[in-house]
Amino acid sequence: TWSAVPAGPPDPILGVTEAFKADKDPRKINLGVGAYRDENGKPYVLPSVKKAEELITAAKGDKEYLPITGLSDYTKLAAKLAYGPDSKPLHENRIAITQSISGTGALRIGGAFLARHYPHSKVIYLPKPSWGNHTPIFRDSGLEVRGYRYFDKETVGLDFAGLKEDLLAAPEKAIVLLHACAHNPTGIDPTAEQWKEISDIVKEKQLFPFFDMAYQGFASGSTTKDAFAVRHFVEQGHQIALSQSFAKNMGLYGERVGAFSLTTESPEEKARVDSQLKIVIRPMYSNPPIHGARIAGTILGSSELYPQWEAEVKGMADRIISMRDSLYNSLTHNLKTPGEWGHIKSQIGMFSFTGLTPPQTKALAEKAHVYMTADGRISMAGLNSGNIDYFAESVNKAVRG
Ligand code: LMR
Repeated sequence: TWSAVPAGPPDPILGVTEAFKADKDPRKINLGVGAYRDENGKPYVLPSVKKAEELITAAKGDKEYLPITGLSDYTKLAAKLAYGPDSKPLHENRIAITQSISGTGALRIGGAFLARHYPHSKVIYLPKPSWGNHTPIFRDSGLEVRGYRYFDKETVGLDFAGLKEDLLAAPEKAIVLLHACAHNPTGIDPTAEQWKEISDIVKEKQLFPFFDMAYQGFASGSTTKDAFAVRHFVEQGHQIALSQSFAKNMGLYGERVGAFSLTTESPEEKARVDSQLKIVIRPMYSNPPIHGARIAGTILGSSELYPQWEAEVKGMADRIISMRDSLYNSLTHNLKTPGEWGHIKSQIGMFSFTGLTPPQTKALAEKAHVYMTADGRISMAGLNSGNIDYFAESVNKAVRG
């Protein structure tokens, strides 16, 4: 029956983990998938998450189905975290929101909802490059995927002129995907001033902004600062779509906790949109899992756990920043590795787009047992004081050929 089914390629990101697991060398390092590791290279369960789980266990809740759009105690707080406590659409009850299967699920609900109900366009513009899963998510949702310039190879920075030109050349009312903070894979974000200009262009061209916010708190260590772009766009009167994830900032990867929301014109419009979100979701997975949403909701709603969690997010962000400094110093000062490595320090969030080429990344995997995605992206969170010297030396060798 399946003789004509061709073998598919491994996933560009998750396939790296498979290759890493199959490698038996004790020096091996996995810098592929964006998953935080502590100073000892181990997965990290946040203490605030452990406390929230104790409270949940003590409350002896049942395991009933959640409503189609999830746990409302959680989604209300997720919206407040993203849009801000003073958000106008939040206070005016104009935000349609649903729990989602983490960020990917949020993007997929959003893609499917827009493909079905956005009346003006079926075209979505993604930054070049973008997270590897964005294209299949939106293509499988029924949208036509196009790109706008983002990364400038020469400066290893933002191609802001190219970005503006491409958005200005896009058809009016097309959808544009924006990484709210900690752009994946490049680690390069627009400045606040540049976000304001992007907002103006989006307004002028009546584009529909769809924010992917998978790293709130992870970029700068502050959940408020990282929400700047989203909140600025909303203040400027844009109607937006927003995908949120608690995989990274609460370390809830496998719990799959996220949210998808849309700002609307009125509570009446919100109610209609909510009803259609349910119609999109019900045939996909019926209703979302309960445990992770309880954890996130407990933390976000607790005057004790919330500040503790914010400090823990900052702790993770700070450890990553310190690894950036160490790696930069090793390559530039200790090893005098050919090339300019300043971008390792200036990029933010979980990833660094190193500039290593596909042959170099291949050599690193085969000779040094160091794994990363083929585009040269490394998850900074996989580095620690125990492996960073070995990593820098391996990069040094790979660059020198
Ligand atoms: C990544 O880019 O590594 C993460 O967002 C994890 C994933 O699902 O790809």
